Amino acid sequence: MDQKRILLIVGGGIAAYKALELVRLLRKAGVAVRPVLTRAGAEFVTPLSLSALCEDKVYSELFSLTDEAEMGHIELSRQADLVVVAPATADLMAKAASGLASDLASTTLLATDKPVLMAPAMNVRMWEHAATRRNVARLAADGVALVGPDEGPMACGEYGPGRMAEPQAIFEAVAAALAGARPLAGKRAIVTAGPTAEPIDPVRMITNRSSGKQGYAIAAALAGLGADVVLVSGPTALSAPAGVKRIEVETAREMLAACEAALPAEIAVCVAAVADWRPESCGPRKLKKGAAGPPPIALVENPDILATLSRAERRPRLVIGFAAETEDVEANARSKLQRKGCDWIVANDVSVAGVMGGEENAVAIISAGGVERWDRAPKTEVARRLARKIAEALP
Ligand code: CTP
Repeated sequence: MDQKRILLIVGGGIAAYKALELVRLLRKAGVAVRPVLTRAGAEFVTPLSLSALCEDKVYSELFSLTDEAEMGHIELSRQADLVVVAPATADLMAKAASGLASDLASTTLLATDKPVLMAPAMNVRMWEHAATRRNVARLAADGVALVGPDEGPMACGEYGPGRMAEPQAIFEAVAAALAGARPLAGKRAIVTAGPTAEPIDPVRMITNRSSGKQGYAIAAALAGLGADVVLVSGPTALSAPAGVKRIEVETAREMLAACEAALPAEIAVCVAAVADWRPESCGPRKLKKGAAGPPPIALVENPDILATLSRAERRPRLVIGFAAETEDVEANARSKLQRKGCDWIVANDVSVAGVMGGEENAVAIISAGGVERWDRAPKTEVARRLARKIAEALP
């Protein structure tokens, strides 16, 4: 990244303070950062702090004689290797999606011939509004890369997707964009994630505690490397990562059908915690308490999605499974590899505190060739590393 140049557009949102940390990370890596601060952005960070961290002048006005004389807005938009918008507000994204050029930031985005990376940040309702959905789709179709947003509590007191990605995640997306890294472009990936829910009657079901976080992070990381990702997800509280096609299912059988419908694909990553068994039958009526006592619930085995994809006629070139184990992690994972016929098993020790439902994971990648152990890291980092390893395995 050393010697690369970034034009950083800072929009007006509470997340603007995180842009300062992003600048710090970029400068540390030897990247030159030229800042454009919108008027609204200047309500949240001062031109002085941005200028001091960037060690450059802050550009703000389209019709400034001095700025135009020093560097015209067209030149400003072209002299960088990458344009980064962080935070990308709903307003900035709407302007960019419709090609407006009403201030320096939007004019620069319209005039640039360089790749653009946006880190959206807005209230959850604004992010989910049909207008923003349209704008995101339009920007993606125009080749704009997105990083985030994350899900979590928001400054406005609401909860949901809309928080700007953390500076470290944006930094990594910048590194990938600068490396021109879309090695999975043109390749299709199927990712299963989350739990399945198997109905007992119209109101009850058998399910499990899978949060879906690791699978969603893998879908996002593969999409980040340019793959065309179909995320087949059981019920979770997560929103679909940008640029990923999500198919929502409930039962194992629906999950398998959605995966088979998504074939052919080069890559399949089965992360879902599929219920091994389902109730044999589920009638239209709720089971009622009665003199006979609790009803017996007969279980039958569910299809194994990983094994089915591994043995499919149109088998993906690389089929990857997960193994959550509590003991003999690597030995169990190795036998799972053989039993299911997949190429790699990503094994994790779920007896370690904080792994199940948590943000971090320590995994070992087991293949016919041996075992590769990775240190404990955030699930998003495990996902990115796995996506890079997949890209290396599929030239
Ligand atoms: N898997 C699947 N379909 C199933 C069961 C599991 O696709 N019906 C996949 C999971 O997504 C995971 C891998 O198989 O990638 C291993 O899942 P796991 O639950 O650890 O294995 P099981 O087959 O349930 O084996 P065991 O009960 O012996 O641990």
